[in-house]
Amino acid sequence: MPKNKKLIVANWKMNPQSLVEAKKLFLGVKKTASGTSNVQTVICPPNVFISELNKLYSGHRVSFGAQDVFWKEKGSYTGEISPEEIKSVGAEYVILGHSEARAFGETNEIVNKKVIASLKAGLNVILCIGESKRDAHALYLKFLTEQLKTALLSVGRKELKNLIVAYEPIWAIGKTDEDAISPHQMHEMYIFIKKTLTELYDKKIALNIPIIYGGSAEPDNVNELLVEGEVDGFLVGHASLEAREFNEILKIANKK
Ligand code: 13P
Repeated sequence: MPKNKKLIVANWKMNPQSLVEAKKLFLGVKKTASGTSNVQTVICPPNVFISELNKLYSGHRVSFGAQDVFWKEKGSYTGEISPEEIKSVGAEYVILGHSEARAFGETNEIVNKKVIASLKAGLNVILCIGESKRDAHALYLKFLTEQLKTALLSVGRKELKNLIVAYEPIWAIGKTDEDAISPHQMHEMYIFIKKTLTELYDKKIALNIPIIYGGSAEPDNVNELLVEGEVDGFLVGHASLEAREFNEILKIANKK
């Protein structure tokens, strides 16, 4: 994972609906992503498209990532894909603990198993955490601490060099830039996550773990979130499905 670069991750979720469209979308961002030297772009298409998209690119400024993996190396697990398998078709990153996967029953304990297996296989892990709503007593901070703590249980210090934390408050996902987190709130969360990681490990390790933001990141709010929110990048959902919007985000991040 390159240091001193902004990390812009496209989470295409379950889109687009065909390989032809996936190639078209990728080709629409490839040129800008290849030219933005201060940004590491990571494209996370549906897992089935990774290998074909990987064939369309040969540089280093774009990497591919999976949207999920299973925690076992191989065996009788019908329908699942192992970290090694996804790596073998070109994935270098994996998104884990996404709220949309948690909504279907993925627990912190399951996320933990996936984190351990993925780091062991040498994948860069984008660990998603985020509360569904905020309360006046700030209990959501406890919830986030628990998500981080359990997901990182038994994860050794050395492996953390391949960890990225994505803060994705569920209340901000799939809306517009006006509903996204404010730069001030983001800055608070940045400090909170670094503090929690310091308590779990130490300050040096915490400082080195990139923190990215997801939840209606769009061309209109990424600049201020980078400057005032101090984020190290973004996990982009709907705006990554429009090449023009995603390219815009890449260009803004490239200037920071
Ligand atoms: P949106 O950018 O569509 O809000 O999605 C955010 C997200 O869930 C990325 O993982």
